[in-house]
Amino acid sequence: MKKFALLVTTFLLVSIVSCKKDKPLDKIIDESLAFAIDQYTVMADVMMGKADLLPRTIDESGSLVTSNSGWWTSGFFPGSLWYLYEYSKDENIREAAIRMTSRVEKEKYNRGTHDLGFMLYCSFGNGLRLTGEESYNEVLLTGAGSLSTRFRPNVGCIQSWGSRRGWQCPVIIDNMMNLELLMWAFKKSGDSSFYKIAVIHADTTIKNHFRPDFSTWHVVSYDTLTGNVEAKQTAQGATDESSWARGQSWGLYGYTMMYRETGLQRYLDQAQKIADYLISHPNLPEDRIPYWDYNAPGIPDAMRDASAGAIMASALIELSGFAEPAKRDKYLDIAEKQIRSLSSPSYMAEPGENGNFILMHSVGSLPADSEVDVPLTYADYYFIEALLRLRKIMGIGGSDL
Ligand code: GLY
Repeated sequence: MKKFALLVTTFLLVSIVSCKKDKPLDKIIDESLAFAIDQYTVMADVMMGKADLLPRTIDESGSLVTSNSGWWTSGFFPGSLWYLYEYSKDENIREAAIRMTSRVEKEKYNRGTHDLGFMLYCSFGNGLRLTGEESYNEVLLTGAGSLSTRFRPNVGCIQSWGSRRGWQCPVIIDNMMNLELLMWAFKKSGDSSFYKIAVIHADTTIKNHFRPDFSTWHVVSYDTLTGNVEAKQTAQGATDESSWARGQSWGLYGYTMMYRETGLQRYLDQAQKIADYLISHPNLPEDRIPYWDYNAPGIPDAMRDASAGAIMASALIELSGFAEPAKRDKYLDIAEKQIRSLSSPSYMAEPGENGNFILMHSVGSLPADSEVDVPLTYADYYFIEALLRLRKIMGIGGSDL
């Protein structure tokens, strides 16, 4: 409690100093959340007329692109609605969140993907946290069971994708994010197998996914029989040896979350080393929104990835709460810059534009020429989450995020 009070005081001081010349941070946060509510209220109305579908992005003509619940991003729109309900207490947003969340339910039986944490925990997990809806427990526990079937004991990881491109058992850094669902299931059910799978996966990932400078490979593939590493490569990054920006953010967020959930010091150490690598990276631009890859060709003219910036900001805000004062201030300083950038016209859409998404300029997969320089639901989700986390740290919000 004392630590938290100190954190709030320090953060307010830092913000007050920076506010001498800039717009006050609390005003920026509330304006951004008000804008998010306006955009997503329209989006929810549009989606009510599209049975079973969820928003995904926009196409070249600016028209909305949707997906069914099986696409990995299906949980983010319902999750964002839950966050906006948490902030606004608006019953219409709550109703929309319930409706959109229900569209994802059948994925609890999906054993063909590792993305169940993204799909189910962002949607049903937030819904449960905010409403206590009893039936959501079953959805999350069934989903956690499905995710657990992808654990490969001789590898020590949850398999991300099916075998492809010569990879027998590909595991991507993104998979760290799905462990939050397993940690919830452990706490809810008392079944230690969920805990063990999450911790073994996180430990194997520390061992094999990170380079000596604490950047991460995107894909590590394992031999299914021996459990040995067979390849360290990329699917969405510039090259096998580059630092794909969103992957770095997933790693940072994943280990911060695993420290919160387990209290194991090695996860805090890992998160801080990743954070230190990223915030001191010579290719992190002045506005602190990463290029789509820290080693992208064409820097400084390479595309930015707002999603990588939003995920990183949210993770840094949480990590600041676990760090010693010097690091804490550094993490918050970067996160504040990222939030100010994302809330500016450089990244935030004009009202009614951008297919009613909130942020512009994210990159799904540049090597696949898919979703390049577009809005994406997960950029919006982690941006809203970061805004709510900042409100909490500043002592102006009651969220338990
Ligand atoms: N998890 C897929 C991505 O970050 O693009």
